[in-house]
Amino acid sequence: MYSMSELKTNVGNVTLKNPILLASGTCGVAAREFEPYFNLSELGGVVTKSLSIKPRDGNPTPRVVEIPGCGMLNSIGLQNPGIESFVKNELPYLVEKNATIIINIVGEIMDDYVNAVDFIKARNEITAIELNLSCPNVSGGLDFSQDPKKAFSLVSEIKKITGIPIWAKLSPNVTNITDIVKACVDAGSDGVSLINTVLGLAINRWTKKPTLPRATGGYSGPAIKPIALRMIWETHKKFPKIPIIGIGGIHTTDDAIEFLLCGASCVQIGTANFVNPKISIEIINGLKDYCEKNKLSSISELIGQAHDVSKTFVKV
Ligand SMILES: Cc1cc2nc3c(=O)[nH]c(=O)nc-3n(C[C@H](O)[C@H](O)[C@H](O)COP(=O)(O)O)c2cc1C
Repeated sequence: MYSMSELKTNVGNVTLKNPILLASGTCGVAAREFEPYFNLSELGGVVTKSLSIKPRDGNPTPRVVEIPGCGMLNSIGLQNPGIESFVKNELPYLVEKNATIIINIVGEIMDDYVNAVDFIKARNEITAIELNLSCPNVSGGLDFSQDPKKAFSLVSEIKKITGIPIWAKLSPNVTNITDIVKACVDAGSDGVSLINTVLGLAINRWTKKPTLPRATGGYSGPAIKPIALRMIWETHKKFPKIPIIGIGGIHTTDDAIEFLLCGASCVQIGTANFVNPKISIEIINGLKDYCEKNKLSSISELIGQAHDVSKTFVKV
């Protein structure tokens, strides 16, 4: 008999019952779609769809393109009911289901974020606020996720108005991810979520035009896993104390383990939900098996181990 392994993990001051969360935008607005498959309380957490101060209709269709074997491109355009309607109609559902709730917030300008966070800033049923720093509709090019100064001021302003832990969700579409991470850390971010989708494009050879009406879209799924791992690697190496929420192409238990070894304290499952809506529970069970087979007393022993030269199996 093995002793029970512990799947609990800490993301800064936040303790999650296990390291598996649903990623924003891949589980509806408030994960109601998962009702037939499992209880939301079994997860480490549920991250809501990005919520904005005003409702958003999203982009024209088609909004998704499958890239067979590699993942998908999406251009949803952050469709959501708006934070006020969410708090009234969706938040009670997540509370009733006993979910660990992470609210993802997005905006075009600073005031959008501040005003949206205002609706939730004092609610103790919320475990963390994830700030989606990339908004596709910004005029003038760079958004909060691509400019360290903008990232710093956004996170600082939000920290001023709420005591709820803040996770800044960053875009991989930058030259140097650690510059942006540093800005968020300096501003008091309690964690960084790495990564959002990678900018991509698909061409329809019949129409001879881009498949998505707005041409570019966000690339996600198995193909982006090495990009996510590289960014987590660089971040953990430079800022070993900042908790990392790993995201990008996680489809299996092995993927999740690789992210933890690389330095993530927990991970989010995105595109894989569209392939198999029960995948997050299967991965939680896979992690239990892994811990028991390897006689780990806690999954958190894995976090960042890939950086630890003393634990290298092959002598170099
Ligand atoms: C259809 C779709 C919608 C998404 N919507 C959001 C969103 O509203 N807010 C956000 O922060 N990320 C959004 N994402 C990004 C995911 O949360 C995740 O960061 C990304 O897909 C990489 O993970 P994956 O490869 O596991 O899907 C979306 C992704 C997809 C595929």
